[in-house]
Amino acid sequence: MRSSKRLERLPPYLFAELERKIAAKKAAGVDVISLGIGDPDTPTGEEIVAALSGAAADPATHRYPSNRGREELRRATAGFYERRFGVQLDPEREIVPALGAKECVFNLNLAFLDPGDVALAADPGYPVYTGGPLLAGAEAALMPLLPERGFAPDLEAISEEDRGRARLMYLNYPNNPTGAVVPEGLFEQVVEFARRHELLVVHDASYTETTFDGYVAPSFLETPGAKEVGVEVFSLSKGWNMTGWRTAAIVGNAEAVEAYWRLKTNIDSGMFEAVQLAAAAALEAGPPAEMWALYERRRDLVCDALREIGVEVTPPKGTIYVWAPVPEGHTSASYCELVLEESGVALSPGGAYGANGEGFFRISLTVADDRLREAMERLRASLGG
Ligand SMILES: Cc1ncc(COP(=O)(O)O)c(C=O)c1O
Repeated sequence: MRSSKRLERLPPYLFAELERKIAAKKAAGVDVISLGIGDPDTPTGEEIVAALSGAAADPATHRYPSNRGREELRRATAGFYERRFGVQLDPEREIVPALGAKECVFNLNLAFLDPGDVALAADPGYPVYTGGPLLAGAEAALMPLLPERGFAPDLEAISEEDRGRARLMYLNYPNNPTGAVVPEGLFEQVVEFARRHELLVVHDASYTETTFDGYVAPSFLETPGAKEVGVEVFSLSKGWNMTGWRTAAIVGNAEAVEAYWRLKTNIDSGMFEAVQLAAAAALEAGPPAEMWALYERRRDLVCDALREIGVEVTPPKGTIYVWAPVPEGHTSASYCELVLEESGVALSPGGAYGANGEGFFRISLTVADDRLREAMERLRASLGG
């Protein structure tokens, strides 16, 4: 069977080899501790589950939803943005629910890119920013995120050709995989850049609600002029422990929100209305604040242990990840393989997030404290010397 050329344009899946090795280890009876995927281990709040149960018992929610979303959810999203960020959104024109940030980001490529167009995407970055443009028949132009620039893209370094062809720019702060928070002044520069080059900025706000040390992450839409040039993709997945629910929203520029909605009416039939009502309850309640202390404690545990074995790590102020350099003499893949082999701990190789992720590895903090402590003990025992 022949798959489409579109599909074949995707780069090889770089986690494949590691996943094969993890499966082989498990089959051989090794108790593998996976620090790979960022999927909260804490359950969704009981009141959100109760809101879902109540709504699901009402047959009115059993029919096709609309892609515009229930008014309750759009109003709850607007209310959250107003309280949390001081950003005013029109629930009628500036908010549409999405089946997760991933779906939304992917579909924005279909809505805004033609063959020959370019999406400016961070390297390292969430893989959909680069795979999405390819599947849309367009291309991604990479913006290196380097530690010496605080993991901010260098807008001046974007070539004339890429500026001319760019229709989209993806940003994401707090940032996966680097854990960086938005550097001072970056959003302002981006608004100016987007105006000059007439492109749509897409800020992926998947981690604004998971921050530490008292740091409060801004919305891109707080930046003067942002709504003229951009949208934000806001997800409940990480901040509310709701990855399985597929709840997010696109908010901001009304024209872009409308284009996304128009595209979506041809692709899916929206979000189960009971989930929409539960998501509205979640937004009204706000994210569970106890998670901040939990991830902060785990972050400290990981950073302290890494330092003890000689890994120089900067504790992140946000996300649910620790991003650290591999020891000299290793590639990110060879180091992750060695760690898996010697200690049964699975890490994510930085190279899987782009060429500039090479030389780093990522640890996810979404593992119970005792397992995380054990993973760090194992690293210390096998690699400490
Ligand atoms: C930067 C970023 N965007 C989007 C997503 C996916 O979010 P969602 O569960 O809302 O689709 C992730 C998940 O890891 C992510 O790291």
